[in-house]
Amino acid sequence: MIKKFLDLGMQPLANKFLTKKDLIKKKIENSYYLEVGFDTKTKLVSILHTISSKKMFDGKYPYRASMSKTMLNSFSKLADRINRKFNPKKIMEIGSNDGAFIKNFNKKNVIGVEPCSNMANITKKKGYKTYADYWNIKLAKKIKLNNKNVDLIYSANTLSHIQDLDSVFKSIDIVLPDDGVLIIEDPSLLDCFKKISYDQFYNEHIYVFSLLAISIFIKKYKLEVFDIERLSTHGGSLRYYIKRYKNKKFKVNKNVHDQLKAEVKFGLNKYKTYLKFKSNVKNSKKKLREIFNKIKKNNKTIIGYGSTAKVCTVLAYCKIKSGTLDYFLDTTPNKVGKYMAGSHIYVKKYTKPLTDEADYVFLGAWNFKKEIFKKEKKYIKNGGKFITHIPFPQIINK
Ligand code: TYD
Repeated sequence: MIKKFLDLGMQPLANKFLTKKDLIKKKIENSYYLEVGFDTKTKLVSILHTISSKKMFDGKYPYRASMSKTMLNSFSKLADRINRKFNPKKIMEIGSNDGAFIKNFNKKNVIGVEPCSNMANITKKKGYKTYADYWNIKLAKKIKLNNKNVDLIYSANTLSHIQDLDSVFKSIDIVLPDDGVLIIEDPSLLDCFKKISYDQFYNEHIYVFSLLAISIFIKKYKLEVFDIERLSTHGGSLRYYIKRYKNKKFKVNKNVHDQLKAEVKFGLNKYKTYLKFKSNVKNSKKKLREIFNKIKKNNKTIIGYGSTAKVCTVLAYCKIKSGTLDYFLDTTPNKVGKYMAGSHIYVKKYTKPLTDEADYVFLGAWNFKKEIFKKEKKYIKNGGKFITHIPFPQIINK
């Protein structure tokens, strides 16, 4: 039974940046009701009103994993680990984006699957075999026919974006050999709850997974998690190493049991924990609004740093008006020069470390705080102030 626990109000499609022309033409932006529920039986946490993938993942998709050193490092470390530990003949990545992961491998040994044609074209141009299509049974059959030797499947920050998880795993079942390994990673529900990062919920993030929910779900495909890694990427993620029951090559690592215990201890199996989260989120909104209001009352300026999909949820949920922030800085070519969905705040190209652009900088990309603070050392040393809402709204300079 799915029980609703969070109401984040009406939200635009987070990654649909608008052009100046769109604004002049007063292009009508669709907005969607964002509510989140907990399935008490399967322990899956999902948004309750979903939007067709085709509306979100098209040839204009702006997000590029390669824009972040943190992600590039994480992928290159994983590539080394995969080669050392599994020595795969051929790797398939579901959701290969702009090739940030697959570029760590020899072109003969890896294939990508990416429905956003603009992203798929980037990897194709680099010479990587990329299927520009949605991950489904039809595509899995085609891939199996053409690439008999795929023995490792990887997918980062993608499966949580696909509503039909049964189709996802049925398709994986077609391609994965008996001794194959499946590695998936996505934001972790435990981290999300601990950090009160309610902005992990937006239209594209249909699920925020826990090990608890993943373990239950994959049972019907006779799959099990045999190892996990806790990652700092995307605000705290879990990387699940999965195998078939019949594959006895790997034993289930103790850290899998430890994570399960930690999730149960925190209460991710109980609805009351979800109600507590709801109340934490409400308090977070109140506090963030207070901070913004106080700054504006004192006629100080605020800009944003990182026009993330996540921050769209925050701006819409906290009803932060467009005039509150002068603009957002971002490095992503497909975002700069455009306006953010919903709030219509301008996205300016990041060209150099901060100096005195504004009195306060709101950390939209809070999940990259470490990387950003390293880049902005000088600004911070000179008294520059950041606003963050994670784990609770506050002004920080370290
Ligand atoms: P991210 O948090 O990965 O994505 P999501 O949209 O899924 O919430 O996005 C990070 C954004 O922050 C991306 O638009 C690039 C931007 N960014 C910068 O502008 N400068 C930086 O130094 C970093 C690390 C990110």
